[in-house]
Amino acid sequence: MAETTLDLRALPKAEAWRQLEQHVRAVLEGVDDDICAMATMSSLVHHAFGHLWTGFYRVVTPGQLLRVGPYQGTLGCLEIPFGKGVCGAAATTRVTQVIPDVHAFPGHITCDGRSASEIVAPVLDRKGALIAVFDIDSDRKAAFDEVDRVHLERILGWFRGA
Ligand code: SME
Repeated sequence: MAETTLDLRALPKAEAWRQLEQHVRAVLEGVDDDICAMATMSSLVHHAFGHLWTGFYRVVTPGQLLRVGPYQGTLGCLEIPFGKGVCGAAATTRVTQVIPDVHAFPGHITCDGRSASEIVAPVLDRKGALIAVFDIDSDRKAAFDEVDRVHLERILGWFRGA
């Protein structure tokens, strides 16, 4: 098993994500536990890129309520209703939200005032059910783009066996 936590900030973004995905997959080889995978991904993604907040909100009432799950960073809001904020939008639409300026997003939920941009991707299980969303917040504006979206969605494919 790979045992280190990589800091990939010196690499071009696409290469950093490639190495990160390999690392995540190696560490999770043989694992069959969603919470274990969520904790592992939160740690590895957080330390690879050094963003403000990295982690999961789990679906606790389908179609209605998200509750915070494994994460790294400053204190996160405990619960987010579907449709509220960026996480709630990702949960309702099941479409990854790439938000260059959170202050321009109607209904953005401020857990940490330093948050300036974010990406939130839906997490589906093997049956296609939404089980969580994965949220990364940055203190820089426009920190995330299509490269992040594509690679983040690939890593989260782990939960549906992809
Ligand atoms: N920014 C998120 C809320 C969660 S956190 O910032 C940890 C949102 O608007 O969905």
